[in-house]
Amino acid sequence: MRKVVNWMTKNIFLIGFMGSGKSSAAHCLQQMLGAEVIEMDALIAKQQKMAITEIFEKFGESYFRDLETKLLLDIQKKQGVVVSCGGGVVIRPENIEYMKKSGTVVLLAASPETVYCRVKDSKDRPVLNGHMNVEYIAGLQEKRRAMYEKAADLTVVTDDKDIETICKEIIRKVS
Ligand code: S3P
Repeated sequence: MRKVVNWMTKNIFLIGFMGSGKSSAAHCLQQMLGAEVIEMDALIAKQQKMAITEIFEKFGESYFRDLETKLLLDIQKKQGVVVSCGGGVVIRPENIEYMKKSGTVVLLAASPETVYCRVKDSKDRPVLNGHMNVEYIAGLQEKRRAMYEKAADLTVVTDDKDIETICKEIIRKVS
């Protein structure tokens, strides 16, 4: 009972670099826990009636970051939701504050090589446009490392693990 209460009264925020497995884990957790899932990127694209790449192209990155912050403020009012965040959500310090106020922040970590394998064919990662290689990914991960670490209440490494194993580890650690 403690476990259910614990997690139903809080949200779970999945953070981590692009390709760390946030969306897959969120959908697996939805099945395992019967939780509502919010995919921030998908919801922003739906609300703006535009793909994320198009939002970046037309309005610029900081406009997109404003949308992320606004959405997080709305999510803060909810309970028992699993949130798959965009990889850059930790860039704004206030976002970290909003996530921590309403939930447990779970960092999904993956090596640059794993990330590259998972995202190399993606056309929907504007931040990696023209830089789709392991070196650039490693550099950007390094730039963001302190922000991810500051935000994370706990970390789950996703390299070489299947999605069920990852989700069981998340559930065990947040309970
Ligand atoms: C971004 C990650 C993307 C998306 C946007 C920016 C980033 O989300 O929010 O393209 O800055 O790392 P995913 O991590 O789901 O790919």
